Amino acid sequence: MDISKIKEQFQSLYGTGGVTYTSPGRINLIGEHTDYNGGFVLPGAIDKALYCVIKPNGTTKVRAYAPDENPQTVAVKSEFGVEEADKPQERWAQYIFGMVREMIKKGAKIPGFDIVISGDVPLGAGMSSSAALESCVGFALNDTFGLGFDRFELALTGQATEHNYVGVKCGIMDQFASCFGKEGSLIRLDCRSLEYEYFPFDPKGYRLVLINTCVAHMLGGEYNERRESCERVVAAIAQKHPEVKLLRDASLDMLKEVVGKVSGVDYIRAEFVIEEIQRLLDTCEYLKKGDYEAAGRKMYETHTGLSLKYTVSCPELDFLNEFAKKCGVSGSRVMGGGFGGCTINLVKDDLYGSFIEKTTAAYKEQFNIQPKVYDVVIKDGARKL
Ligand code: GLA
Repeated sequence: MDISKIKEQFQSLYGTGGVTYTSPGRINLIGEHTDYNGGFVLPGAIDKALYCVIKPNGTTKVRAYAPDENPQTVAVKSEFGVEEADKPQERWAQYIFGMVREMIKKGAKIPGFDIVISGDVPLGAGMSSSAALESCVGFALNDTFGLGFDRFELALTGQATEHNYVGVKCGIMDQFASCFGKEGSLIRLDCRSLEYEYFPFDPKGYRLVLINTCVAHMLGGEYNERRESCERVVAAIAQKHPEVKLLRDASLDMLKEVVGKVSGVDYIRAEFVIEEIQRLLDTCEYLKKGDYEAAGRKMYETHTGLSLKYTVSCPELDFLNEFAKKCGVSGSRVMGGGFGGCTINLVKDDLYGSFIEKTTAAYKEQFNIQPKVYDVVIKDGARKL
């Protein structure tokens, strides 16, 4: 990513000065759709990131420019105020507006500023480009205007932006990974307490690679529906077990007690979540012992659960998953919210070259789409450059 170019763009539009901030996308090794259920996740920040250059402009308006947007289909410039009624039309600008509003709600005073945003986190690929944008803007505003929020508050502000200004009732994983990422480490995050532990990740003899179906996912209604299913099951279980506030607090036995009291669809979704929370804990034990084959098997189990029980996969993702299994890849599964985007694959070094060649060719033949391949490099979280 050529950062000097973003700065040049900023200066040609808004004059001299401007400070640059960055915040990354993320991968998640295992633990999907567990975050909003208070469970565990195992993400890491990656070497794909968003960047912004920012400077106060002495007015009450925000002037924003996103050169990566396609000017044929969406405006690349947006100008808006910071009052609730000033929400901009452009979806990308709504993330900036949302961050500003959520910070103001927490007592921050934010005057007008100019901002240019650019980056290389692929959109709709399940690598959390939106959390990267929120965290980048959050860090930039916090530092520029001395707002005094800590990283926890910045991550929670990003999540609140999704809930209140984007309409996705997401969990905390993506924003947390973007804010707390650490080079060479995954983060084992307990989404109920927000306690976390860095988990050094250096799978000797293996590589972690993402394969992008290039079927873009756009999280929204279907994602929120799954969250509602989980909440309905919690409500049913809590009638007998009032201590259960989240699916994290529930066991499979408790779930069995509500057969017939919740819909079949809700039941099977909740079953997936309870199993997935345990799968993550098991996987962490395997990783500690360096047993990547066993960890990989858990990834396959997650895929099966996400595809058949939680139903957030699609034919393209299932194809890549089955193909990986056929090739002898140690672990493979859909990553992130689902409905498109990437699979994450744990591949032995000596299989890597032939696997990538075969899988890209087979996918192209099946769907007439050239998939994209990204080697995962675990990097630091949001920061000033
Ligand atoms: C999206 C959401 C996250 C999380 C994942 C699924 O990335 O933003 O909060 O729920 O889906 O694990």
